[in-house]
Amino acid sequence: MRYQLAPLYCRPWTLNGISARLIESHYENNYGAALNRLNAISEEIERLDLGSAPNPALVRLKRDEIVALNSTLLHELYFASLGGDGRVLPDALASAIAKDFGSVDRWRQEFAGIATGLAGGSGWVLLTYVPRDGRLINQIASEHNQSIAGGVPILALDMYEHAYHLEFGANAGAYIAAFMRNIDWSAVKLRYEDAIKVAPPRPLEQKEFADVPSISVEEVREMMKSGTPVQIIDTRPKHYTTKAQDIMDGAVWRDPERLDDWIGTLSKTEPVVTFCVYGFHIGCQTASALRKAGFDARYMAGGHYAWKAIKGPVKLFE
Ligand SMILES: [Fe+2]
Repeated sequence: MRYQLAPLYCRPWTLNGISARLIESHYENNYGAALNRLNAISEEIERLDLGSAPNPALVRLKRDEIVALNSTLLHELYFASLGGDGRVLPDALASAIAKDFGSVDRWRQEFAGIATGLAGGSGWVLLTYVPRDGRLINQIASEHNQSIAGGVPILALDMYEHAYHLEFGANAGAYIAAFMRNIDWSAVKLRYEDAIKVAPPRPLEQKEFADVPSISVEEVREMMKSGTPVQIIDTRPKHYTTKAQDIMDGAVWRDPERLDDWIGTLSKTEPVVTFCVYGFHIGCQTASALRKAGFDARYMAGGHYAWKAIKGPVKLFE
């Protein structure tokens, strides 16, 4: 694989307070160097004799490759972040930012605050869309390689000294202010529109229980906190409970094999939540059976271990 150089995206002569000379040097010497390094690393990897024995050079080169590739990608995004007037955000983007940060001003303070914290050190400040949660987040990427897995960065501020020293000296604050004045929000908005088309990671699908409603552990925790009446039934199989040491606090264990023996003890006016070890089968089957009998029953997704993973309270299982 040979990576191709991207033409400079912003028009340097239009920038306000960032000189063409600084952009030219940055593009040629830093972006260009990252791309050339990336291609040299790719070539070296292709030339490796991989045989059957582990090749220690491979791991080293793959580490170097991440740094060079991310430096290349982030520099391209950086140059594509500049060229606007920095002030007016398109409505859709402004409301997305306000949703995730409280307000556009709050976002500005956080983004510029992170940059100020990096001044004198190095790293990137990125505004990144995270498909998993459908939200925007500001992040630091040090050493070019701390990007959020699956995240789509849509705005990049380069805080390595080479990005400003030539012109601003050690005055990183003036550089950050100049960057903020030159953000091309209409370009950021287009990247945002592309980013939100990225699907989140596929959720667990349980086709056989598609008609049985589930409830998340967080929702169950909220119900308990707010004092909403709920009957919580631990239906882990009997053979499993002989080695189990703990049980969700607030739950009672009932043998899923003997549903008929205990179904009469449940109230039909209060919702029922059932769960098993991981939330795959028994809890779902029990919830399904209870629903058929007229109960408002749901299974707790993720089961016992999901409850423990959110540090929900447990007690000794006797
Ligand atoms: Fe740079």
